Amino acid sequence: MKRAKISIIGAGNVGATTAHWLAAAELGDIVLLDIPQAGDMPKGKALDLAEAAPIMKYDAILKGTSDYADIQESDVVVITAGIPRKPGMSRDDLLLTNAKIVGSVAVEVAKRSPNAVIVVVSNPLDAMTQRVLDVTGFPKERVIGQAGVLDTARFCAFIAMELNVSVEDVSAMLLGGHGDTMVPLASCSSVGGIPVSQLISSERLAQIVQRARDGGAEIVSLLKTGSAYYAPAAATAQMVEAIVRDKKRLIPCAAFCDQEYGVGGYYVGVPVILGDGGVQKIIELQMTSEESAMFQKSVDAVKNLVQKMRELV
Ligand code: NAI
Ligand code: 2OP
Repeated sequence: MKRAKISIIGAGNVGATTAHWLAAAELGDIVLLDIPQAGDMPKGKALDLAEAAPIMKYDAILKGTSDYADIQESDVVVITAGIPRKPGMSRDDLLLTNAKIVGSVAVEVAKRSPNAVIVVVSNPLDAMTQRVLDVTGFPKERVIGQAGVLDTARFCAFIAMELNVSVEDVSAMLLGGHGDTMVPLASCSSVGGIPVSQLISSERLAQIVQRARDGGAEIVSLLKTGSAYYAPAAATAQMVEAIVRDKKRLIPCAAFCDQEYGVGGYYVGVPVILGDGGVQKIIELQMTSEESAMFQKSVDAVKNLVQKMRELV
């Protein structure tokens, strides 16, 4: 069987770490692309990963480049190009800079890989995913944002730490935009099949929910020079795996919702079935009235940001 071709635009922390996870899982051949000003950095990272292959036992062709000709006919393109936030910055502070970068990247991707599924990672995530859809004109199913898998992983990690149980037994769901208004759904979270509300008091659970919401900022405040990348890259790799292996994973992703949840044509984090060709189905789940109000607040925040972006670029 032909190996998938996966191109990653932006060979910085998230891009290179995503290449690492993808290679280790033998998900395909990988192109790491960055701007010419980055010099030979993408070539260096690709070669370094290729030299790790005999030890870690993976087969993949890894190429570093600044030439878009190399991403020709990719099956999946991951966009991590842009600037990350520094302490004191919100994801939204990146809006104008990253909208320009992501817009220029999307033009090249559409030209070279018109049939690709695009996974957007650059922040502010929901607005950047919209930007890629607007610029490429791709079908909405083939432009998806990565946020929910990361945010859910953070929520699950904190629940596992709280209960001192294996992360393998924790399952959770989270909706909304990738921002301070994201909506972790305690009602859809369980440990070994037991609703989390039976294991953790509502006061403590509220603190854990807040920590998941602030998860990105917590890492920024510790790293000081940039934002998280191991967990974001692992989350991105999980999405790429679902697509190239047609796994039909039911996971939260930023998907274009029109009638769904009454969103009216914006990207927002919702449960989807992700597989070959991208989003195969958006799942509409029941929320409590409190969760529903939080979701609406999150959707409104995304709408405001997208409108601001459209005025600026
Ligand atoms: P980074 O600074 O380590 O890497 C970004 C790379 O993009 C740099 O190597 C830079 O040269 C490159 N780049 C800039 N303009 C480009 C262009 N026009 N074409 C190609 N490459 C270009 O930053 P990091 O930590 O990798 O984060 C990347 C983005 O991902 C940021 O916007 C960050 O906020 C976002 N992010 C999103 C997450 C999510 O869950 N959606 C999680 C973590 C980060
Ligand atoms: C995160 O959540 C910065 O969006 C990035 O870590």
